[in-house]
Amino acid sequence: MRISVIGCGYVGLVTGSCLAVAGHQVVCADSDESKIVALHAGNLPIYEPYLDSMVAQECREGRLSFTADTREAIASSDVIFICVGTPPLENGDADLSAIDRIARLIATESVTSKLAVEKSTVPVQTGWQLKRALSIYGRDKGVTFKVASNPEFLREGTAVQDFLHPDRIVVGVEEGSAEQLMQEIYLPILERRFNCPMHSTGCPQTQPPPFIVTTINSAELIKHAANSFLALKISYANMISDLCERLGANVDQVTRAVGLDPRIGPAFLRAGLGFGGFCLPKDIQAFMRVAERAAVDFNLLKEVDRLNRKRVVQFVEMAKGALWVLKDKQIAILGLAFKPNTDDVRSSPALELIKLLQVEGSHLRAYDPHAMEKARAAIPFVQYGTDPYEAVQDADALMIATDWEEFRTLDWHRIRALMARPLVLDGRNLLDPARMKSLGFEYHSFGRPDQKLELPTED
Ligand code: UGA
Repeated sequence: MRISVIGCGYVGLVTGSCLAVAGHQVVCADSDESKIVALHAGNLPIYEPYLDSMVAQECREGRLSFTADTREAIASSDVIFICVGTPPLENGDADLSAIDRIARLIATESVTSKLAVEKSTVPVQTGWQLKRALSIYGRDKGVTFKVASNPEFLREGTAVQDFLHPDRIVVGVEEGSAEQLMQEIYLPILERRFNCPMHSTGCPQTQPPPFIVTTINSAELIKHAANSFLALKISYANMISDLCERLGANVDQVTRAVGLDPRIGPAFLRAGLGFGGFCLPKDIQAFMRVAERAAVDFNLLKEVDRLNRKRVVQFVEMAKGALWVLKDKQIAILGLAFKPNTDDVRSSPALELIKLLQVEGSHLRAYDPHAMEKARAAIPFVQYGTDPYEAVQDADALMIATDWEEFRTLDWHRIRALMARPLVLDGRNLLDPARMKSLGFEYHSFGRPDQKLELPTED
């Protein structure tokens, strides 16, 4: 099938290259010419495991191409995946202007019938607006426009795996022919008939995913409901963590046992600095606005957001508790990305932390395995270490802000020797408290107090 993907951001690049892996003829378009020039030269704007080799291979084999000519991409395909950004407006609403622009372009540039697929995260009822725009601007053209909603559930860092081995494919449609087209597009993935780019490193042997057909409104709502629930789970775990801290319990033990209940599940119960990134924080805002407009009291999400915003402040308080005065203290920050295995620093709790410490007058040296270039652009005032050891040199404290796996296996003896004071504040509960203590560190994390029950003495 000839497919065009509009928008070469995270979702667009992963969608385009994975659909090419599934055997389709895909052209990815972006109005940012510099991005297309870089992609032609083999330079991806994002770091995502497997993506660059996949893009290179699919381009070489002729299934994937890039263009800055969105009109041409629209005209040449049967199905158009809309993967443009929907960033937050000041009031929390999703900015849908890019979707609107593409809708008008599809309407005016199409000479054959098209299926327009919403892949970007959008508020419920956007599909209806999209359909309306297509029929108004494409009137008298003698072509039919169908609309489908196909929310994306990929996570940064595991995006390729999530797309090719999804736990569900959701398709919101109005008519049977659109459903059939979508089924055809996803058939290779449903039947696992593709060359998995992960096969050499362990392609997950998952069951074929359920293909869930819904109305367009339901599909749109599913995406916001899912992301908001994940955010809620994290804030809930963080509250349990605060309780554990005050009352001498251990959050790892509590969430592990709670998560073993299949009705709850173990994922997204990791306590720490809270959620960041370009999806969860903006999606709960947008979902709150959806609820507000529908006159539904969804204050629950306001709380989720409020509790999350407090996490970084609590981490700074933890640092104050240990260091007393933060002014003029040398602090090493390990981790800048909003989560591991990505170079994305948008709404990263690590950057928020750095800004707060900067206000306190601390001297900061940061390190991240992949996100330093993007962090430098966002917070140029910080010093950066070429490796974790340079970052911790003479530091009074080391603060872990992202749970990169490689931080776990650092040479902690060497780190201890390099630091002015062996103090580790672990904002992601990455390290084992007992081990850190045995290595001679003063160690603090969230919800894992170093407390044993004190029995009253007999006398
Ligand atoms: C999120 C969703 O997980 C995806 O399903 C969705 O497709 C995507 O948004 C999207 O809308 O495009 P992502 O933004 O890549 O994916 O990040 P997550 O893996 O959800 O992590 C979000 C944040 O929560 C990170 O800062 C992470 O460190 C934090 N987190 C996660 C916790 O603090 N605790 C946890 O237990 C899990």
